[in-house]
Amino acid sequence: MRRIEFHNRAEEKKEIKSLLETEPTLITFIYGPINSGKTELINHVIEELPEEYVVFYINLRTKFLVSYDDFIESLFEMEMESEGMKRKGKETLTELVSSVTKVAGIPINKEFLDYVFKDNKPKNASSYIIKLFEEVKVTGKQPVLILDELQKIGDVKVNGKDVESESKKLLKIRTSRMLSIFDDISLGEVKYSEKNIIKEFRNFEQEEILLYDRINKEKIFLVGRNVLFIDPTQRTIKPQSRLNLLAIREVIKDV
Ligand SMILES: Nc1ncnc2c1ncn2[C@@H]1O[C@H](COP(=O)(O)OP(=O)(O)O)[C@@H](O)[C@H]1O
Ligand SMILES: [Mg+2]
Repeated sequence: MRRIEFHNRAEEKKEIKSLLETEPTLITFIYGPINSGKTELINHVIEELPEEYVVFYINLRTKFLVSYDDFIESLFEMEMESEGMKRKGKETLTELVSSVTKVAGIPINKEFLDYVFKDNKPKNASSYIIKLFEEVKVTGKQPVLILDELQKIGDVKVNGKDVESESKKLLKIRTSRMLSIFDDISLGEVKYSEKNIIKEFRNFEQEEILLYDRINKEKIFLVGRNVLFIDPTQRTIKPQSRLNLLAIREVIKDV
């Protein structure tokens, strides 16, 4: 069987890595149709991350979860693939926190173990996860939690918000970042006209990717602003991410 080369996802990988470099304020969602390459992309990012990252990867695919509570309850029994740990491989969170010896060079102290095992049946796994992450951070490393197949959780709440409203929030942020281009035009910081920028945006009212005929300065400018992505080998142009595409459509809806 021929092994298919990993198609270059340089832009997406760059975006994820830069998100990981900054202080987290939001949960990042990677979404797209089935088989669009989300898991593959994440795996490649994990492989390329420097050693200072400790990645915990949980795939919810095989889980039967009816609610968020269910998710939290079963979190402890889920296998975590911890990359960047000395001991590579699958471990449940329970195993991970109960290895009294050093895990990944992370000294888990007695206090922490007492804290973890003070209840026989831990009710709130998320607080243990947080604790585990704090322990990772103490060592100067950066913990990263990846939940794959998140759609398995029907009513998942993120900080009391559901995924849908969280996604809407992200879209709002991205849209306002795009609108700031027009502020910059008004302030004379950008020399292109609003009309011409809108014209570029309108190309994506119906389409997600276009073949371009001639490149223009506005397109190059929008590439520089991380809005569009140009592939000169294919002569195609498209928004740099799905979120950008949706934000473009939000912007042109109002003008
Ligand atoms: N960038 C890529 N280049 C080549 N093949 C890919 C790429 N991304 C995904 N694939 C392949 O496509 C299939 C689906 O990818 P996967 O990551 O499982 O999608 P998703 O997680 O979005 O459902 C897999 O067989 C995977 O090996
Ligand atoms: Mg997947």
